[in-house]
Amino acid sequence: MSTMQTQLSFANLAGIESELLAVLAADTQTSKAPDAKPLPVLLTADEAVKAAAAAVLASGEYKAGANETLLLHAPAGLAAKRLLIVGLGKLAKATVNGVRNAAGTAVRFTKPRGIRELVFALPESELLLPSPSVRAAIEGAFVGDFDPDTYRSDRKDQSVQSFSVVASGNSDKAALEAALAEGIIISESQRFTRSLVNEPGNKLTPTILGERAAAMAAEVGLQCEVHSTEKLHELRMGAFWSVSQGSEEPPALIVMRYEPKGVTDGPVLGLVGKGITFDSGGISLKPGDNMEKMKYDMAGGAAMIGAMRAIALLKPRVRVICVVCASENMPDGKAQKPGDVQIAMSGKSIEIINTDAEGRLVLADGLTYAKQLGATHLIDAATLTGACVVALGMINAGAFSNDDETYSKFNAALATSGEKFWRLPLGEEYGEMIKSDIGDIKNTGGRWGGASTAAEFLKVFAEDTPWIHLDIAGVAWVEDSRPYIAKGPSGAGVRSILEWVRSY
Ligand code: BES
Ligand code: MN
Ligand code: ZN
Repeated sequence: MSTMQTQLSFANLAGIESELLAVLAADTQTSKAPDAKPLPVLLTADEAVKAAAAAVLASGEYKAGANETLLLHAPAGLAAKRLLIVGLGKLAKATVNGVRNAAGTAVRFTKPRGIRELVFALPESELLLPSPSVRAAIEGAFVGDFDPDTYRSDRKDQSVQSFSVVASGNSDKAALEAALAEGIIISESQRFTRSLVNEPGNKLTPTILGERAAAMAAEVGLQCEVHSTEKLHELRMGAFWSVSQGSEEPPALIVMRYEPKGVTDGPVLGLVGKGITFDSGGISLKPGDNMEKMKYDMAGGAAMIGAMRAIALLKPRVRVICVVCASENMPDGKAQKPGDVQIAMSGKSIEIINTDAEGRLVLADGLTYAKQLGATHLIDAATLTGACVVALGMINAGAFSNDDETYSKFNAALATSGEKFWRLPLGEEYGEMIKSDIGDIKNTGGRWGGASTAAEFLKVFAEDTPWIHLDIAGVAWVEDSRPYIAKGPSGAGVRSILEWVRSY
């Protein structure tokens, strides 16, 4: 994979020699009157850049809508060969996340034009703090640079080779350099997650996912163990194994630990991920249409692995354990059947109603194991339910928690990560829906409220430990490309989980 070089400079915009200089614009119109026209302005103090764009901004052709682009060749008075204006939308509503997306838009504009190098002018506005903007610009650029076409034999590697952020000369240079370094770590970690999620089921079996995680862990100095069938039996992981038993591919129980020196007390955060490398549904076989998409059913596990990478490099002062339960879900002579009863590691008995509700089965034992390893707080991520996608679409991911204080820390992290999660309810009544006649609980709760009954199932295994569940089924794969992101794996969750960890 090519690596985009990133750097920070404090030069004068007009004098920068570059193939492309990207500058942000926003709409300052505050009137809501039907005849009120957009009033776009550039978010820079550079008089030469403003002069170069003055005529086109006055023309009314360009409205500075979010991610709206306009390209000027040979801009008068500038050393850059091209000036790209990227919109942020209304200035009053401008956010750092808008800057993230605009940077991605600039990169995705640049890539197919064969331009390998661009300079991104940090927006100058009181609403957008410089350090968070630098970090966001880097993250957005990496997000935009990713394309999923790794197996195309005519693949043209159009990756941007150089992305520079230019800030004003009177900024706090050390702070911006730190923000840049942080942005690179986070971006590369998110990209690592995306590259895992992009792999098809035949190229990324549970075993190979374990190998990838172990190789990454060795690189960044994380402890990592990858176990398989024997260990599942030894730990009596009857729920996890019930999913794996129907596949020729052995499962992988991936365990990573981050233990910062000198930290011997305080919380231990347990990150648990669903790592189904292919979900056929098992004996409750899925319909053929779109079944190929179920290679991304390991996105929750991959998000946790990516977050662990960033944690290892950013070194927060808190201990973290990561458990990823990787398996295929396949129909086979040995596969589990609807009606089977499984005994989870915690001792709870589970009646299998639908073998396609497998994510909660592997996570049940993953949560129990993380607790046994000492986790005091749990967070899980999973492409768990189609019901969550029906409820929230592909815009927000679902979030659930048994503890308001723990959830409020996660919610606060979203301001930094720029990701969208919407809290959905748990509750006794949902718990009633998964009571089994033959055993303790059943693995589906019927047609309605499927995201909440799945979460309620997991809650049985989190028990009294503060816990957050993230259902990323709708956001882990981008169905339609946007100006700032290609269609394909999004790396959703990595940044938010990381920020939640850093808040301890
Ligand atoms: N992996 C799927 C959920 C999913 C659906 C992920 C769409 C991404 C996009 C999960 O294992 C599943 O099959 N869930 C079932 C549960 C049902 C059988 C209770 C579902 O949502 O239909
Ligand atoms: Mn399934
Ligand atoms: Zn699944």
